[in-house]
Amino acid sequence: MSEPVLQIRNLSVDYPTRAGVVRAVDDVSLTVYRGEVLGLVGESGCGKSTLGMAILRLLRPPGKIVAGEIVFNGRNLLELDDETMRHLRGAHISMIFQDPMTCLNPLQRISDHVIETIRTHRPEMGKQEARKRATELIDRLGIMAERLDDYPHQLSGGMRQRVMIGLALALNADLIIADEPTTSLDVIVEAQFLDLLRDLQRQFNLTIILITHNIGVVAELSDRVAVMYAGKLVELADVHSLFDDPLHPYTRGLLNSVPNISLTEDHLQIMDGSPPDLISPPPGCRFHPRCPYAKQECSRREPAMKNVGKDRLVACWLY
Ligand SMILES: Nc1ncnc2c1ncn2[C@@H]1O[C@H](COP(=O)(O)OP(=O)(O)OP(=O)(O)O)[C@@H](O)[C@H]1O
Ligand code: SF4
Ligand SMILES: [Mg+2]
Repeated sequence: MSEPVLQIRNLSVDYPTRAGVVRAVDDVSLTVYRGEVLGLVGESGCGKSTLGMAILRLLRPPGKIVAGEIVFNGRNLLELDDETMRHLRGAHISMIFQDPMTCLNPLQRISDHVIETIRTHRPEMGKQEARKRATELIDRLGIMAERLDDYPHQLSGGMRQRVMIGLALALNADLIIADEPTTSLDVIVEAQFLDLLRDLQRQFNLTIILITHNIGVVAELSDRVAVMYAGKLVELADVHSLFDDPLHPYTRGLLNSVPNISLTEDHLQIMDGSPPDLISPPPGCRFHPRCPYAKQECSRREPAMKNVGKDRLVACWLY
């Protein structure tokens, strides 16, 4: 395994609301290594985006990090002042959202975005040279050079997502957090985008946290997969082990709910029930009300993540 880029240790994030405190991320520890794609999966509302935004310290109010450490290239992000953090976001960590329009200034041409980003990273570069670089980059992304001076709204959704990857490449970002990057794209454009992302990831050894509830996307792109349930990490494994032999009953249910992925043994039906309320989650294992294997102990004591193989962890009393 290569060096760690990001180490999340015992991270907890709360949203205090009128109805009570929503603990959206609860005591999550996770390491991301240079050059890997880490898929982060789980049902809607399990805390994936909250985890992604917490890394960037961009939680939407009233979200607050209440415990833990986020160490990025050796520095605890939670100890940095706002200015340093802003610089880090602009220069070292890139985010690709479901809707790139939220990140692209509608009044700036694509060329301005790209050139500005290139020059943030390489201030010594002149405008001409940066424009040349931008043109090459756009071409590498499969966008025709003449589109460089378009405004974001003139591009298709797929092209806008390509531009977002381009900005991450221009920065030479150490870490890219992609949150549901293909959800707004149609199937064909999605497939093209994923191919491109995979190519660029390999070529530039990019480090990506890929947040999605699309298991197919995870299977195609990830090296390792982290599974979240109700704010908790419940399983972590390399992609092949996870798909060949998912250990956590929730992971099995999740994979089984995808029609074209078949598991070899021990089939579960599509999961019944819905994720718990995060204001007062069930005691013990949070999955116990939905788990076909639940035993008495499960509702009493909470299982911790346990090492069950090489870089393979699971939080379940069955192991
Ligand atoms: N601003 C907020 N105020 C209160 N609760 C919030 C806020 N944002 C998120 N939550 C709650 O935090 C939990 C985690 O939400 P989050 O958006 O991180 O989930 P997610 O896994 O990204 O879901 P999805 O797959 O739908 O994007 C949910 O229960 C959600 O209701
Ligand atoms: S700890 Fe118990 S309830 Fe939780 S997933 Fe494992 S078997 Fe099911
Ligand atoms: Mg989300």
